[in-house]
Amino acid sequence: MKILLTGGAGFIGSHVAEQLIAEKYEVVIMDSFSTSSATYLPEGVRLYQVDINDPAAENVFKIEKPAIIIHLAAQTSVAHSMRDPYFDFQTNTAATVKLLQYAVKYGVRQFVFASSAAVYGETVHLPVVEEHPISPQSFYAVSKYTAERYIQAFAQIHRFTYTILRFSNVYGPRQNTSGEAGVVGIFILRQLKKECCTIYGGHQTRDFIYVKDVASACKKAVELNKQGIFNISSNIEISIEDLNELIAKKMDADIHASYKPFRKGELIRSVLSNEYSQQKLAWEPAYSLTEGLDETIEYYVHRSFHKL
Ligand SMILES: NC(=O)c1ccc[n+]([C@@H]2O[C@H](COP(=O)([O-])OP(=O)(O)OC[C@H]3O[C@@H](n4cnc5c(N)ncnc54)[C@H](O)[C@@H]3O)[C@@H](O)[C@H]2O)c1
Repeated sequence: MKILLTGGAGFIGSHVAEQLIAEKYEVVIMDSFSTSSATYLPEGVRLYQVDINDPAAENVFKIEKPAIIIHLAAQTSVAHSMRDPYFDFQTNTAATVKLLQYAVKYGVRQFVFASSAAVYGETVHLPVVEEHPISPQSFYAVSKYTAERYIQAFAQIHRFTYTILRFSNVYGPRQNTSGEAGVVGIFILRQLKKECCTIYGGHQTRDFIYVKDVASACKKAVELNKQGIFNISSNIEISIEDLNELIAKKMDADIHASYKPFRKGELIRSVLSNEYSQQKLAWEPAYSLTEGLDETIEYYVHRSFHKL
């Protein structure tokens, strides 16, 4: 079975590619390398260095005729979406619509989409279930949610399977630590460099899901050809302050964070229920936070030792 993976060279994409190749899927990657490189691509994938906004993207469909698309390529920064909403819209919404048109034209049977917990925005009930009211608080969240709606409409009109995966905060090896999402990597690197880090607030909570679990959710969605919207999360809430302390303890470090006032606009609590995914996608996280952190710490220690 041939799968087209957009953004397959990225943090999550490279783990998805690895797991799919291990299961003998034929994997074709379309990536512009805007925030990544070919460094982590497993052997056996076919690579097209193409921007999803570029009309050349159609050629990949024409040549490869994939059965399934897992669409991960995106403008991933909330802050960037606030500075340049049009760019965010073009990449996350408009290019997704183009991919949907190609999917229809070239007979794709399933469209899997990387959405985000951000679409829920300010939440009323915790843990957040998939039916929770949607209230996007950033242009990134709007562009992801709009893409979701296009995907559902296309799937209904053209009769293919859609799978929307709403990821909570993903962490693990290969995450880019320059972005706002890479808090785990940032804390680990600060401890390695024996530098203090600044935490704004600290009591705000997040739900951290290990990247290999996210990859296995993508694989599961494909295996079952399952339609629907699924939270891909740990269902465990931890404060940023506690996360930093846990990492420091694991690394035997005594560098303590400095604290500044909580930044307005940030979510105070975030935790997604994964019960529906457990029931309908037959997926659950295989890694505890402590196991995921151990592997992630090992990766950063190895990387800094070898100056990679
Ligand atoms: N990391 C998280 O915590 C998280 C949480 C929720 C949702 N997501 C979503 O998961 C997906 C993957 O995110 P990630 O964390 O791996 O980010 P990433 O930046 O590591 O990966 C994105 C990949 O897409 C590629 N890309 C970006 N723009 C492109 C374009 N115009 N054309 C072709 N390729 C392009 C990048 O080069 C990169 O390889 C994204 O859709 C993101 O919105 C991530």
